[in-house]
Amino acid sequence: MAKEKTATLTIDKKTITMPIYDGTEGPSVIDISALYKDTGYFTYDPGFMSTASCDSKITYIDGDEGILRYRGYDIDTLANNNDFLDVCYLLLNGDLPNATEKKIFDREITLHTMVHEQISFMFRGFPRRSHPMALMVGSVASLSAFYHDSLDIHNPEERKLAAFRMIAKMPTIAAMCYKYSIGQPFMFPDNDLGFCENFLYMLFATPCEKYKVNPVLVDAMEKIFILHADHEQNASTSTVRLAGSSGANPFACIGAGIASLWGPAHGGANEAVINMLEEIGDVKRIPEFIKRAKDKNDPFRLMGFGHRVYKNYDPRATVLRKTCKDVLNAVGKKDEPLLAIAMELERIALSDEYFIERKLYPNVDFYSGIIYRAMGIPSNLFTVLFAIARTAGWVAQWKEMIEDPKQKIGRPRQLYIGATARSLPKKGKGKPNAKAAKGKAAAKKAAPAKAKSAAKAIVKATPKAKAKIVAKPAAKSVKLVSVSKKSAAKSTSSSARKTAKR
Ligand code: CMC
Repeated sequence: MAKEKTATLTIDKKTITMPIYDGTEGPSVIDISALYKDTGYFTYDPGFMSTASCDSKITYIDGDEGILRYRGYDIDTLANNNDFLDVCYLLLNGDLPNATEKKIFDREITLHTMVHEQISFMFRGFPRRSHPMALMVGSVASLSAFYHDSLDIHNPEERKLAAFRMIAKMPTIAAMCYKYSIGQPFMFPDNDLGFCENFLYMLFATPCEKYKVNPVLVDAMEKIFILHADHEQNASTSTVRLAGSSGANPFACIGAGIASLWGPAHGGANEAVINMLEEIGDVKRIPEFIKRAKDKNDPFRLMGFGHRVYKNYDPRATVLRKTCKDVLNAVGKKDEPLLAIAMELERIALSDEYFIERKLYPNVDFYSGIIYRAMGIPSNLFTVLFAIARTAGWVAQWKEMIEDPKQKIGRPRQLYIGATARSLPKKGKGKPNAKAAKGKAAAKKAAPAKAKSAAKAIVKATPKAKAKIVAKPAAKSVKLVSVSKKSAAKSTSSSARKTAKR
């Protein structure tokens, strides 16, 4: 990273200079790591709207242009020409494997597909009606109990082994989550089958009869897994990195990532899309749901629409839109009513001013749920499948972090807005004692006083970027007054708008 450009910040009559780093593509960053030491101020960025937490060589996203690349390769090129294990190799090692490397890698992963027999006993402790994600969070984190002797994260061979184990065992555990919930016996992996074929086999085969997996479904599964394999510093990946930054073992870190993925704003959205489409039930009811999605007093959102990063059609959704039709044809469900509702919903939303203005397009989860459903996969298993695929990205990102010499434990700071020091209430009385009340009153007085004397700060960035920020006491927010760098003006003004609304 070249360290040529700098930004200057003037605050409380003190000026400091901060380095600007350029990546190979995408926005440059201002290095604010010395800000607190030099000025006594923290930066404030809830939701990480403008904060890069690391540098990474794995995935590049340009949300405005709808670009997603792994290690420089466009996502649709990979989805249409490679299988999931090629992509795992690429994410972990930086390049696609040649024929020999591929053979060795595929074999190594295959040799780790089985799980310890104790894991199946552990499952029996869970209620049968458990959500499969609950089973998955618990069982993946518990893998650390089985491999305690090979968890030295500073040993490259043990890191590699942990990565292989994670990638290989996730489909086996996912299939066990499903089988357990429907009361069928677990199926052992069949190591003659490919990664996705084996997963579908463990999911749908039973010990009673022969089962042949439909190749169209295998192909769709390969594509879905490739599209979900990584997405740079999203919530679950940042969780894995943060957990791993303390030196925690990789199985525990991936368990934390799975927990983060579970939420409906992240990996839980594919399940939520199907629930929403089922609730709509008929194309005639779409306007009613569009109206609800636009109503600020209604918590309802169009699931599978919008993305923090993509302000254009999600490139993954473009691939899946076609795959969805292929799968529905292959399983004889081309008239699937949910697809008709989804297509009409997409058409109406994309021509509605509310969605156009906010750049809300269908995301990857809008179509993946319909494909899974057509395959016969129940909706409560959708996020589990997302976790299988994202494990490739999680282990690659975890490995990159551990191998980064600049790596530090992650430790965000805060703006404290709670009570100032006070004494315990007198025994038997609910009200605070006089001393505490005095402390509270002082705190009330101090807050606006501090804000009034708040900094008048000027940020300058060379060669072009220039911004002036003024702390506003009443709104307790920082307002952008002027910016000459175009992109900076765009992003800062929109985040200021959001802060004001909150
Ligand atoms: N339906 C209706 N309005 C929406 C939606 C939606 N799905 N998404 C965003 N908006 C509105 C939002 O109300 C806000 O409006 P205003 O500016 O008037 O207050 C504006 O668009 C910006 O939204 P935001 O919440 O500030 O955007 P965000 O970047 O914080 O949230 C998101 C991104 C994905 C959480 C959100 O778009 C959402 O909740 N979508 C539905 C859930 C979903 O499909 N999630 C899957 C994401 S893709 C899988 C993955 O990568 O994990």
